[in-house]
Amino acid sequence: MTSSRATRFPIGNALSIETLENNVYPALHELRTHEPVSWLPALKAWLVTRHDLSIEVMRDAKIYTVDHPGFSTAQVVGPSMLSLDGTTHQAHRMPFEKPFRKREVNNRFTESVTRQVAALIESFKATGGAELRRDFAGPIAVQAMVTALGLEETPVQQVLTWYDTIVQAVTLVAKGEPVSADGQLAFQALKTTLMPSLQANPESSLLAAAGASNAALDEDQIVSNAAVLLFGGIETTEGMIANALYHLLTTPDALAMVCADYGLIPNAIEESLRLEPAAAVVDRYTTEEVTIAGATIPPDELVEISLLGANRDPAVFPNPDQFDLTRSNLRAHVTFAQGPHVCLGLHLARLETQQALAQALTALPNLQLRTDSTSQADAKPRGLIFRKPKALNVVWG
Ligand code: HEM
Repeated sequence: MTSSRATRFPIGNALSIETLENNVYPALHELRTHEPVSWLPALKAWLVTRHDLSIEVMRDAKIYTVDHPGFSTAQVVGPSMLSLDGTTHQAHRMPFEKPFRKREVNNRFTESVTRQVAALIESFKATGGAELRRDFAGPIAVQAMVTALGLEETPVQQVLTWYDTIVQAVTLVAKGEPVSADGQLAFQALKTTLMPSLQANPESSLLAAAGASNAALDEDQIVSNAAVLLFGGIETTEGMIANALYHLLTTPDALAMVCADYGLIPNAIEESLRLEPAAAVVDRYTTEEVTIAGATIPPDELVEISLLGANRDPAVFPNPDQFDLTRSNLRAHVTFAQGPHVCLGLHLARLETQQALAQALTALPNLQLRTDSTSQADAKPRGLIFRKPKALNVVWG
């Protein structure tokens, strides 16, 4: 069967992980034109690269599900909205819907995010140079999630250690290993720390507001969903902020436009989200045999939606590889997914990125990437699943 797939999908068959990680865009254009749903042996998955097809798949949770043992997160943190579909998915997501709405997010987070971004800039401003991914984008993302979960009294380093240990445990389970003792201990410790914040006054944090929502979930289930907020909210937002800074600092015309009119920052954020989605793919498993764009996919197979591919579909975005602040359909990208699993944190992530860009451009005059070849190469977003710069070394003044 595999060899007949190789014959039917020669472009997908020839793609290596190396190309997908480091030079993916020409390959995605090729695939989209000739094999918009293709079989990639390197990924052991089907890959969808057209904008319309990606939306079709993401909206159809009956045929393309996340409720599958192939997803390892549930084995470490328990079932959550990330690993469920249908009415149970709705029940797990519901308590978080209201506190993540735009107005609620702006009310709850504007002051804290503004203050946290300002304090970070103050901590390195006098030095004239910094690595903005690890020293700026990463801490902004972590601090927002610490605030969301009401963990202000817990050292940030402790939250990051739990996060790293749980991510490692999930990665090992994905490779077929049992849940590690370290992973179990880290999740238990996170859970013990989250309980008091879950039971606190609903005004005190987003988690407490979710806990007070009269949901059909018990406290353990709410905590499992709170843990997936950490997964959803840290690495992706770090990438989103770093990628937006990268695009502005490497597109002088756009930077000049934004510096002349900060009202264009949201355009810059949307266009950066389109060009380099920090989460590159969304995974689903087929529940039954399905034929899509001429490809017949058997049940129980992994289908990856390439958000990168969809976002550069020339049928939707003319000159798709260009960073263009004046596009009429800036928000037509699918970076936050669509359908039942559409990103819960999108308003918060936008708020964080807005503050990061506005304050960096104001407080760090003449901000630019370091010109040495290593800094230039490190700044380019890359990665198979998460896309972001290796490092964003900048100077100002
Ligand atoms: C404050 C930061 C964020 C939080 C708290 C957050 C949280 C979440 C949660 C809980 C989900 C699962 C929703 C569900 O299954 O019903 C989700 C989905 C998703 N998020 Fe976010 N997110 C954040 C930022 C981001 C960013 C910056 C990106 C990309 C640039 C992103 C991309 C996605 C995608 C693609 C999905 C869909 C996953 C799937 O369908 O398999 N998120 N997010």
